[in-house]
Amino acid sequence: MDRLLCQLCALCLCAGVLASEKPNIVIFLVDDLGIGDIGAFGNDTLRTPHVDSICENGVKLDHDLAAASLCTPSRAALMTSRYAIRTGMSSVITSLMSPQGLPTSEHTLPQMLQEKGYATALIGKWHLGWNRQLLDQYYSPLKRGFDYFFGLPLSNVKDFGGKQEIMVDIGFTGKLYKLSAICLSTSLILSRLINKKIGVTMTIMSLILIGNFLFAFKTYGIWNSALIRNDRIVEMPLNLTSITQRLIEEGQNFIKSQHAAEKPVFLFMSWLHVHTYMHPQPPFKGASQHGPYGDAVEETDWAKLCSRIILMSTISSQLLIRQA
Ligand SMILES: *[C@@H]1O[C@H](CO)[C@@H](O)[C@H](O)[C@H]1NC(C)=O
Repeated sequence: MDRLLCQLCALCLCAGVLASEKPNIVIFLVDDLGIGDIGAFGNDTLRTPHVDSICENGVKLDHDLAAASLCTPSRAALMTSRYAIRTGMSSVITSLMSPQGLPTSEHTLPQMLQEKGYATALIGKWHLGWNRQLLDQYYSPLKRGFDYFFGLPLSNVKDFGGKQEIMVDIGFTGKLYKLSAICLSTSLILSRLINKKIGVTMTIMSLILIGNFLFAFKTYGIWNSALIRNDRIVEMPLNLTSITQRLIEEGQNFIKSQHAAEKPVFLFMSWLHVHTYMHPQPPFKGASQHGPYGDAVEETDWAKLCSRIILMSTISSQLLIRQA
């Protein structure tokens, strides 16, 4: 599962403040982004002008520690400010049917803001659990402090885009082959030694078992690549080609809708980039000097037009931009 390693490397906190009012808070979270991939932190071949301008016009912090180097635990820590191991969230959730999730005994950041009158939204990747029992959405972000959710319950993984690649790793597949071989040979031996009928029945059952496993592996990407709005699946499998643009639109729409309601906003933009599977789109595709990864970094930088999102909130008598 090491391919799933995520590093919580960039966290931008942007706040539009109107004196005497509660600040709007926008968090941009980018999985797997290295600090050395940002222009403001010394990269001279990748272009990240928008993040750089946050650093220039706000506060740039150059020492930061993520609580974990994996998606789920680092996100659990961000939501709760506790070490992930304390909440049992120390490994990565890999399926919508995993019965794990951020314990409901934890008080989360969006919950605290909700209590303070904030309208809260998560746009993008959640990855802190979904179902506890069959389709009950027990761990949905809507139950953990978000008023609105649009995005992925899990992570963006290779299965969602790479044609022949599956996320279930080679070791696991190897075990499957061994298990199949054992089942089949046991059936054959039994049929010779004891009884042909039992042997034939067992062979058929082994084949069904193997077929089930193979079906599960082959369709893993489809079952788990769901795009969800609040509690409804809106797309399955997920179409990665337009996803960054759609996340931006969702973020903007949320801020617009809340502006009418005159509530302060907490918007958590949790990008799918730059985690594999890389899915940069034109004009970024092929434009960087660092292959699909570089393209994805530059696309995410563009998506982070903080100003675009914040200006829409139009409460800009005073603008404070911070980067953490
Ligand atoms: C800029 O980022 C690319 C992609 O990660 C990396 O290969 C390169 O070494 C970086 N440049 C510097 C000066 O750190």
